[in-house]
Amino acid sequence: MRRTAALLVAALVAGAAAGQEKAGPYVPSPTAIVDEMLALAGVRAGDFVIDLGSGDGRIVITAAERYGARGLGVDIDPALVALATDNARRAGVADRVRFVEGDLFAAAVGEASVVTVYLLPHSATRLAAKLRQELPAGARIVSHDYALAPWPEDRAVRMEVPEKVAISGSARTVLYLYVVPARVGGDWVLELPAGVARGPVRLIARDEPFRAAADAVVGGRRIALGDFAVSGTAVAFTLPAAGAGRLRLEGRVAGDGMEGEIAGRPGVTWRARRIR
Ligand SMILES: C[S@@+](CC[C@H](N)C(=O)[O-])C[C@H]1O[C@@H](n2cnc3c(N)ncnc32)[C@H](O)[C@@H]1O
Repeated sequence: MRRTAALLVAALVAGAAAGQEKAGPYVPSPTAIVDEMLALAGVRAGDFVIDLGSGDGRIVITAAERYGARGLGVDIDPALVALATDNARRAGVADRVRFVEGDLFAAAVGEASVVTVYLLPHSATRLAAKLRQELPAGARIVSHDYALAPWPEDRAVRMEVPEKVAISGSARTVLYLYVVPARVGGDWVLELPAGVARGPVRLIARDEPFRAAADAVVGGRRIALGDFAVSGTAVAFTLPAAGAGRLRLEGRVAGDGMEGEIAGRPGVTWRARRIR
């Protein structure tokens, strides 16, 4: 872990040498919002939290103090990096968190299980593809006030925070949660209990830039699965069943396998394996 953190810091420092774009002014998130961001991300011990544009370090420091997480803050402003480092020392979490000067657009984020951002709208949008590609499946991202458009959020929480009036002219606050989806693109053979489906089923799945999509081939007929959804490692979709009914399949993706239960039929399981 120490070595990983050192490599991460080296990559970030290298990134800082390149041209940097100011992604937002320094405006600290009010404490009530920091608390809600960490709760929404479900931060726990074992998480590695990266705040991109870390200001005085409050998000990463609170994650370490309250949940025992490790963390890293990246900021373009060396005075804020020094302030955050000092704040971490005062809070007694300097052994678990660190702050580095660097460009958040060039930051190596692949080790993070949680990423937080509070940036200008176009910067949040600019980060969307990078975070979706570089973070591991199941990593959570929470963005304060601005969506990582065009990535549809997994959840949005609205709150009224009086301290925001002085910052943005309104108490209205929205926190957006994204869960990085497992990559499911490819051809899958589905294994269902005998007599449940209308013959053998194959899935043809695609990882599109900001969503996953899939067709099913059932008894030789190709059908678009309109409700195919992947959130982290969770997958769910509906298939036509034997007879006139429908089957709701819910499960988990792990590498080239998926497995789960059929909704409403306790103990009736399904699996799939990726063949290419
Ligand atoms: C709105 S503040 C958020 C501070 C902190 N995340 C919080 O929520 O309290 C945005 C921060 O991003 C930093 N920043 C702006 N552009 C940056 C860039 N290209 N790379 C790294 N940090 C940047 C600013 O210096 C500032 O501290």
